[in-house]
Amino acid sequence: MAMLTAIPGDAAVEIAPGVHWVGAFDPQLRNFDIILKTANGTSYNAFLVRGENGVAVIDTVKEHFADDFFRRLESVARYDEITTIVLNHLEPDHSGALPELLRRAPQATVYLSSRAQMMLKALLKPGGGQAPEYVPVSTGDTVELGGRTLRFLHTPYLHWPDTQCTYLEEDGLLFTGDIFGCHFCDERLFNDRVGDFRFSFEYYYAQIMRPFREHVLDALALIEPLALHLIAPAHGPILRHLPRDYLRRYREMATPRLSNKARSEKTLLVFYLSAYGNTRRMAKAVAEGAERIAGVRVSLYDLEGSDAGTFTDLVEEADGLAFGSPTINADAVKPIWDLLSSLTTVNIKGKLGAAFGSYGWSGEAVRMIEDRLRGLKLRVPVDGLRIKLVPDAGELALCRNLGENLARHLTGQIEHREMDLAALA
Ligand code: FEO
Repeated sequence: MAMLTAIPGDAAVEIAPGVHWVGAFDPQLRNFDIILKTANGTSYNAFLVRGENGVAVIDTVKEHFADDFFRRLESVARYDEITTIVLNHLEPDHSGALPELLRRAPQATVYLSSRAQMMLKALLKPGGGQAPEYVPVSTGDTVELGGRTLRFLHTPYLHWPDTQCTYLEEDGLLFTGDIFGCHFCDERLFNDRVGDFRFSFEYYYAQIMRPFREHVLDALALIEPLALHLIAPAHGPILRHLPRDYLRRYREMATPRLSNKARSEKTLLVFYLSAYGNTRRMAKAVAEGAERIAGVRVSLYDLEGSDAGTFTDLVEEADGLAFGSPTINADAVKPIWDLLSSLTTVNIKGKLGAAFGSYGWSGEAVRMIEDRLRGLKLRVPVDGLRIKLVPDAGELALCRNLGENLARHLTGQIEHREMDLAALA
């Protein structure tokens, strides 16, 4: 039976000749950024690369774990040897020890993406420290360490706008920040030694990277042509065994799965809940109206029969979303809010949205849903429709009109116009 051999407590770990992991383990963490579950804790991976003319530190750790980071760093380098600090991502879980590192190695030049510059200044503000000498870099820029070259890849939004990857050319090592990472703390460190972390790898993608799927695909286009011996993400296992498998899995997860796009068909999803059948009648009429327009595929879902998470894939790839809710206690009903709140893990910006619903005596739900849709950056091109209690034939015709108009916007038969207030002056 294999022994569960952990990395000795304070040791830096050599991941390639002259390249060390100097990060920290956080096995007790159970929640990350408030919203992510971390059953196995996490790690904050930072690295040190030694060249003939200097030493580079790539990322740091969360502030609370700075002592672990500095102990490991000191075991393999002196501070006066550090010429280069690379910041792949400035979220505090990776930049927490940066102010102290800058105090200990003030001679080092910082390399970061152009979008990270303002973040760097904001991070150093509380200590009142001077911003260090820094160089904004982008794809193709390099730093020579003497016999070793760091090359930068501009990979924004993975998972903040500031993010980049750093490639150690001579060794085929890629330091990726959050992408290809996961919250899975296992002190055996390497993917061929730790426990099975697939669930965590995929959960991390779904929660962190999925809203930026198109940026993931852009990053893969830069990364896939590289000679790759090892991927070193900023969280979780270091991927030295079959690293390309992780690129392939990312490409699978980030690639749209539905075939409608290929057929240039627009998709409209109509979700509803109904206490007495009135909002259901409205939903069916909205769907009927939309179906009148060629090139629009309409799907109708009663949320009473499902959980919000069921629809994530469909919503991600749909072009339009319509929501029908009765008003109960001056609010839309909870399953509608559950579905809307679950959409923060997908990119729905720019899709078309609409709301409708039957009500008894106040009818706030429709306006509240519309406000939420606008808050999520959907366009709401058709006024919502509120109908008191039972929709009659004329009111059902209004519902069909709503569906038809929404479908016309989807197909481009009605063009969306942004009002330019300056033009009115
Ligand atoms: Fe691991 Fe986006 O920070």
